[in-house]
Amino acid sequence: MFVIKTKNYRELSKRACDIIAREILKKPDLTLGLATGNTPLGLYKELIKEYKKNKIDFSKVKSFNLDEYYPIKKKDKKSFYYYMFKNFFNKIKIKKSNINMLNGETKSVKKECLNYEKKIKKNPIDVQILGVGVNGHIGFNEPGSDFNSKTRLIELTKETIKRKSRFGKKVPAKALTMGIKTIMKAKKIILLASGKPKAKAIQHLIKTKSDKDWPVTALKKHKNLIVIINI
Ligand code: GLP
Repeated sequence: MFVIKTKNYRELSKRACDIIAREILKKPDLTLGLATGNTPLGLYKELIKEYKKNKIDFSKVKSFNLDEYYPIKKKDKKSFYYYMFKNFFNKIKIKKSNINMLNGETKSVKKECLNYEKKIKKNPIDVQILGVGVNGHIGFNEPGSDFNSKTRLIELTKETIKRKSRFGKKVPAKALTMGIKTIMKAKKIILLASGKPKAKAIQHLIKTKSDKDWPVTALKKHKNLIVIINI
């Protein structure tokens, strides 16, 4: 595990952007695992800036998002589909056919999850961007999630629902998420954490042993983990 402590959120975003830009330069058809939430917004802004300066070419890049609420319509402003197109995909030139997201409108959850795992097997994730929940969740793998879990439907904790429901817009109580085992298969993982509320989760990751109550601690076993923190 390689830990980078930055002096502010902007530096955290720029450091993560530099690593990803280098990886895409080395492998133009890189497969990128993407996260949502507030933390990666600064990174997406930096990546868009570099793209506009012709420093990054996304035309051959493939992407897989970690998770999506369920059930939810793509056009719902609370969906991660909406978030990704608004904050990233609509602002860079990436092939729509290379974008992979769990479908919050699927009628068959089991088939959706199996297909997602198959697609990832066919296009293994080279670099996975991760945030971390205050309760130590990664993707939507909540505390108690099995470290051998695969892509599946999960129940969100009350704390996560409360945290994610803002301005009266309640998020669904369930979500589709890549499993911990799925995440761990990525060749490189970049974990981003910003702000005091994440300190406890990061402390567990760095200072304690693997613990199912803190899903982020599963990452301790990953051979190529970069943790960029501004806490
Ligand atoms: C959600 C997402 C996670 C994200 C977490 C933290 O649960 N499913 O992928 O890491 O929130 O979000 P934030 O970065 O807004 O704190």
